[in-house]
Amino acid sequence: MSEVLRIIFASAEVDGFSKSGGLADVARALPLHLKQLGHDVRIVTPFYRSIPESHQTETIIHELGVPLGNEEIWCAVRQTELTGSVDGKAVSLPVYLIEHEHYFFRRGYYDDGLHEYPDNASRFAFFSKSVLQLCLALEWIPDIFHANDWHTALLPFYLRQSQQALAEFTKSRSVLTIHNAGYQGNAPVIFRNSLEIAPEYFVAELFEDHGQLNLLKGGIHFADQVNTVSSGYAEEMRTPLGSHGLHQTYLNKGRNFCGILNGCDYDDWNPETDSHLPATYSAADLNGKKACKLELQKIFGLPELTDVPVIGMVSRLTGQKGFDYLLPAMQKILALKLQLVILGSGELWIANSFDELKQEYPQNLGWKNGYDNELAHLIEAGSDMFLMPSLYEPCGLNQMYSLCYGTLPIVRRVGGLKDTVIQFDEAQGPGNGFIFDEPDSSAVFMVVDLAVRTYYQQPQHFGKMINSAMQQRFTWKSAAEKYVDLYYKTLK
Ligand code: ADP
Ligand code: GLC
Repeated sequence: MSEVLRIIFASAEVDGFSKSGGLADVARALPLHLKQLGHDVRIVTPFYRSIPESHQTETIIHELGVPLGNEEIWCAVRQTELTGSVDGKAVSLPVYLIEHEHYFFRRGYYDDGLHEYPDNASRFAFFSKSVLQLCLALEWIPDIFHANDWHTALLPFYLRQSQQALAEFTKSRSVLTIHNAGYQGNAPVIFRNSLEIAPEYFVAELFEDHGQLNLLKGGIHFADQVNTVSSGYAEEMRTPLGSHGLHQTYLNKGRNFCGILNGCDYDDWNPETDSHLPATYSAADLNGKKACKLELQKIFGLPELTDVPVIGMVSRLTGQKGFDYLLPAMQKILALKLQLVILGSGELWIANSFDELKQEYPQNLGWKNGYDNELAHLIEAGSDMFLMPSLYEPCGLNQMYSLCYGTLPIVRRVGGLKDTVIQFDEAQGPGNGFIFDEPDSSAVFMVVDLAVRTYYQQPQHFGKMINSAMQQRFTWKSAAEKYVDLYYKTLK
């Protein structure tokens, strides 16, 4: 094993090419930081129809045959560069895009807006298998195949299978990072043959789950190392309550399952340099934050008052984020002297509920249904507090962005939120956020009420919390070093 590792990073989303949530942020930042540490890292991801045309891509393989089930599926491979900044220095690395019109030229990545695509298992099994074929075609054999989430959970399995037939991959090892254990890639058993899952693998210890296929479950078994994106979530995943049904599978991995906290991309999310903002600011001079608040209120059509606290939310609209108990608390929350600004996209019933609330509370609810990166930056900067009442949260990136922007997070004590947000404690110090425990409407109301009272009644203390939040750092460098340790561990 050489010091410089060859790593192929396979992800269904990569920020700049495709994004529905934090997986995309990680799939961009982590490879860039691994590259900066001196490793030969390359990304592979699907070529979706929505990938911006501004990317100059070159087709490097016109016909790549991917054997899967009893057929050979043909695709093309495009190549481009991902360029980013790490600690102010430019870093770039190759990105391979797997082009298959039928599988990836669709309206959404995983669904049509209402329903999941029924052939998702086939689409992402094909993608996973294509990663091996691509490496063979390039004659570039990675030390590490790094898979992410259920979409590429079959990659460790296919790697193991091909190690039996091919000499090339004998020394390669796989790492599977679970960003969200709630999505497991369940599929009817009729897919088994076409995914090359032999009958002996369709058992409860491997791919079988309540009579269906569970791609994540089997992938965990076959991966050499498995990790998730915070220690807090890793702990929860070993329990029946927090594992989404797979606690035994995680327990079975023993020391080969761990948590590595994500980093925050401070080159992209930094109030001192953020080009998306009307004004920049720092902990030493918060004037620009006021200008951001006024701009935010203006954009959302709310009264432009700097002395009323603004609570922000930027979120996928889905059960994971706690809307089931947040929505019933909204009327009581909106009766407080505050403004709430929400940007989100996802499930229709949640969006409809906010449409209705907006009619009722035009003076203090700002709501936008959609995906808007620029506005997400403004909400982080212009709000005083940021609400994440998640039912579960593997890591969470928005609370890290909030801390850095001096926007105090209000979070539930779960997963990565409990690893990153510190409750005010008279003995320990100012803390940097507000935390609640129970996943219910009265608990979320009470914590918002406490945060608002602290804002009005203890401005000095609130100021200390802002200062403490802005000093907090979760660097990608530190996270990338932990991944490198994990890679070396698995190659030993
Ligand atoms: P998750 O991956 O579960 O959605 P994270 O907090 O890890 O949660 O990451 C969410 C990422 O997606 C953040 O970068 C956040 O700013 C972004 N995001 C989510 N929803 C939106 C939206 N509607 N508009 C813009 N950005 C969004
Ligand atoms: C997931 C999780 C989120 C995490 C992100 C990146 O989508 O829901 O908590 O921050 O992946 O790892």
